[in-house]
Amino acid sequence: MKFVHISDLHVGEHGTRDALVEKLVNKIVKHYAREREKPLVLITGDFVHDGQQEQFNQAEQLLFKLHNAGFQMLMCPGNHDYGETGLDDDYQAMQRYNRFAMKLTTRESDPDSGVQNIRDGQWKYPIVNKYDDAFFIGLDTMQGVFRLSWYARFWARFSASGWLGTPQLDKLEGIIKNIRRKHRGATIILYMHHHPFNFNFRFRVMQLHDRLRLHRIIKNQVNILLFGHNHVEKRLWDKQRQNGIGIVQVFGNSVHDRNTPFYEIDTETRKMKRI
Ligand SMILES: [Fe+2]
Repeated sequence: MKFVHISDLHVGEHGTRDALVEKLVNKIVKHYAREREKPLVLITGDFVHDGQQEQFNQAEQLLFKLHNAGFQMLMCPGNHDYGETGLDDDYQAMQRYNRFAMKLTTRESDPDSGVQNIRDGQWKYPIVNKYDDAFFIGLDTMQGVFRLSWYARFWARFSASGWLGTPQLDKLEGIIKNIRRKHRGATIILYMHHHPFNFNFRFRVMQLHDRLRLHRIIKNQVNILLFGHNHVEKRLWDKQRQNGIGIVQVFGNSVHDRNTPFYEIDTETRKMKRI
């Protein structure tokens, strides 16, 4: 199967950004207009800029175009979806994202995977969706932030950092083991918002803090690893080699580039195309 990866839409940041989101959506619809079977669209967070309801309404309107054109969507939250200042870990904003994602994500959990994506009206990460022989696993890189001490949260707010938290990592470990036991050759696509590797960024901000355990869990197990957060576009060849992962790519500039690029990825050939 084919899927499309986009990220970091930041609806509500300013008029230019919103116009680029509209341009991107139209570009995707047009590109696949002749195909009866539309690719899945994977969106790795930062749908809105400040976690406000009006912005979610606007993002919903824009993305419903994809929905109406027959595209299914999978998504995970970013730091901007949960609050105003990059990392605000605001509970109300989290609920707003929760409802927004509920309306746009068209498929629920796969009964075979042993996990339930939605419980009591809330998303329970990791979320798993199976399409043919491809397993999509989505993480919430902000979940651990809600569990930190006030001091750490204070620091996190200024550094736009993420934490997965131990419960989510425990669950992820079990899920991957389970999939590999039953479906050896399946393609596992792991997606999240924050950059899961240490990268050379000034002042060490924007990091995913509990990434080392994540590396141990996914090494030689995951086939495709996608994320956004940094508004850049880069295939991480060294991380692919070190972790035994076929594709590792940061792609956060779908609407931070006037040409509104997106990637099309084939889960069988595990090849990607920039469009
Ligand atoms: Fe972003």
